[in-house]
Amino acid sequence: MYETLEVERKAGFVVVWLNRPDKLNALNAQMLQELQDLFVNIANDASVYAVILSGRGKAFAAGADIAELHRLNADTGESFAHRGQGVMNAIEQCGKPVIAAVNGYALGGGCELALACHLRFASTKAKFGQPEVNLGIIPGYGGTQRLPRVVGVAIALEMILSGEMIDAEQAARIGLVNRVYPPEQLMEETERFVQLLLQKGQAAIQAALRAVLAARELSLSDGLQFEARAFGQLCGTPDFLEGTAAFLEKRQPRFQHQ
Ligand code: COA
Repeated sequence: MYETLEVERKAGFVVVWLNRPDKLNALNAQMLQELQDLFVNIANDASVYAVILSGRGKAFAAGADIAELHRLNADTGESFAHRGQGVMNAIEQCGKPVIAAVNGYALGGGCELALACHLRFASTKAKFGQPEVNLGIIPGYGGTQRLPRVVGVAIALEMILSGEMIDAEQAARIGLVNRVYPPEQLMEETERFVQLLLQKGQAAIQAALRAVLAARELSLSDGLQFEARAFGQLCGTPDFLEGTAAFLEKRQPRFQHQ
């Protein structure tokens, strides 16, 4: 049981709600700890194939908890950033697709949390921004590294230097958001997308995720090696035999996820 998160288990996936709506889901130490714990469990839970992360109330997350930030000093700031980065890494590396359903403000650490997710779907009410310069700091939960990888250096710099918010349509235009929906359709459409993923062989889904994430870390030649190895391993799986047989027999595949 978590105090700052609400976890709904569904068939094959989980929906995680950030649940401090009175504080716009600001990421305090407890919420970070609970997210870390949850995503380690998700990584080890073979019955979970996908995750949707969203926020209760009018925010996705309005950033790191500024009351906690205010107490930092030159001795504690670096480890604070490492701690948050570790949580973002645990989400990104959990091995299953994680989709942020961004219902409202995704600012500072909230935007970084959305960036640690693999896909971002947004409601038309969502607002994104990295306003840390307004507080005399820079993003510390991965924003300076993940944002430019998603939207390019110039646009990342524009957001991080100005601290200005952008709306969902702008976020979609720059590639920060994959899809935009009216607020009342956001969860339904995100779940519909997850259902689409659940119809695939999950060994392939998870290998695809690993390979694309590896692309950020590896040279092209090492990345191509990584891809070929993963492709080869999948060619030895029951799901590959089933998927190709089903196509040839003009029927739907029945994957065993192995
Ligand atoms: N940390 C701690 N508390 C936060 C918070 C944060 N990042 N963001 C919002 N809150 C709290 C507010 O202090 C307020 O608490 P209170 O009711 O006890 O006073 C509550 O959440 C509601 O926020 P409020 O500012 O009243 O809502 P609003 O609709 O007027 O404004 C925002 C919304 C998002 C524009 C505004 O809350 C904001 O600018 N938040 C900080 C964003 C930020 O700089 N994040 C980066 C942190 S690294």
